Amino acid sequence: MRQRRHGWAFVRDVCRGVACDVDLEIRKAYEKYPFPYAVDIDFLQYTPARARQELERFRLAHADLHRRTFGLAPDRLAGRIVWDLAAGTGWRALAMALDGPRELHAFEGSKKAVGFAQHFAQLLGIHNVSFQHLSLFDLASFPHAQRPDLVFCTGALHHIFDLRRVVHALARCCREGTEFYFTHSSYRSIRGVLKYYKNWRCWAEGGSDLDRRLAAGERVWKSWVKSTPVSLRIDQINDLAGVLYVARSREEITRLFREARFDIEALPTVQGLSQHLESWREILLLPSSSSGKRLLKRTLRLGVDVLRALPMPKPIDRALGVSVAFLFEMRPYYFKAIYRGNG
Ligand SMILES: C[S@@+](CC[C@H](N)C(=O)[O-])C[C@H]1O[C@@H](n2cnc3c(N)ncnc32)[C@H](O)[C@@H]1O
Repeated sequence: MRQRRHGWAFVRDVCRGVACDVDLEIRKAYEKYPFPYAVDIDFLQYTPARARQELERFRLAHADLHRRTFGLAPDRLAGRIVWDLAAGTGWRALAMALDGPRELHAFEGSKKAVGFAQHFAQLLGIHNVSFQHLSLFDLASFPHAQRPDLVFCTGALHHIFDLRRVVHALARCCREGTEFYFTHSSYRSIRGVLKYYKNWRCWAEGGSDLDRRLAAGERVWKSWVKSTPVSLRIDQINDLAGVLYVARSREEITRLFREARFDIEALPTVQGLSQHLESWREILLLPSSSSGKRLLKRTLRLGVDVLRALPMPKPIDRALGVSVAFLFEMRPYYFKAIYRGNG
């Protein structure tokens, strides 16, 4: 270990894996701030109605991701053995539980996050999912009688520093034909570049100390967006500092999976403006707690409907969709990998 504890040279060393134990730092960050975060009220104060509202939001997002990006039919999970890796506070797994899998196991490295997930499952009366406190590095130690048919992992692999080790651990759990659908963040949009820059700047300012990084994160965010409400700042806090975004190219990810005997393809993610509008509309239809928010949503929905009604030639629709994504969205990579077996 080198002695440099902060600064851009420290970040360079972090990225080379010689400055600190990144995987340990990431675990500490998610233990402190489980994801997604409780923005307005404490998770333990959730009523069943509030939990159902949150579940509905994730159900829509998950259905959209599965259908549009992963190309999965709506009944694809029914009767299957499904795993969700790095499940956070469990919303996606809870949403998948509604699709009728035969077995559903969700793995997560933050003990606090697992506790919240179990609490939500109870609150919602969902009993066909098990939440396991387990690091992805130790997946192979999970005592499973049957190997999974489908495995999902969203929003997490870009935090894993030693990805090769996790991919090999996963391979040991798969059977020939197990399908693995996952995301990996990228910096191929303005938001992506900002996210990576913000994140690494916090590591430069805060160094190897989690609390200093989080404080640096708040400072950076406040200096960028002067009057941000506290709730939004909390929502940003891990992104800003606690965790590390490990930059990887599609080629590097592909190589790591091929080494571990997976066939892998990067999935296309280009959406037209009409598809963006459709997703926005679904989100704007979700119920809101205050009349102010309801009015705002209704106004935005009207705008969306007007845009949807405009006749739009396909190439223009596509070009606008790409521009919207480039300007405003985090554009992760999406992958489908199929285990070839060890024969
Ligand atoms: C951004 S959250 C994504 C949560 C969820 N998959 C989603 O899409 O909402 C990343 C999650 O990965 C988990 N994680 C990071 N490294 C992990 C590891 N080595 N083992 C298990 N979980 C890990 C974190 O604790 C965190 O809950």
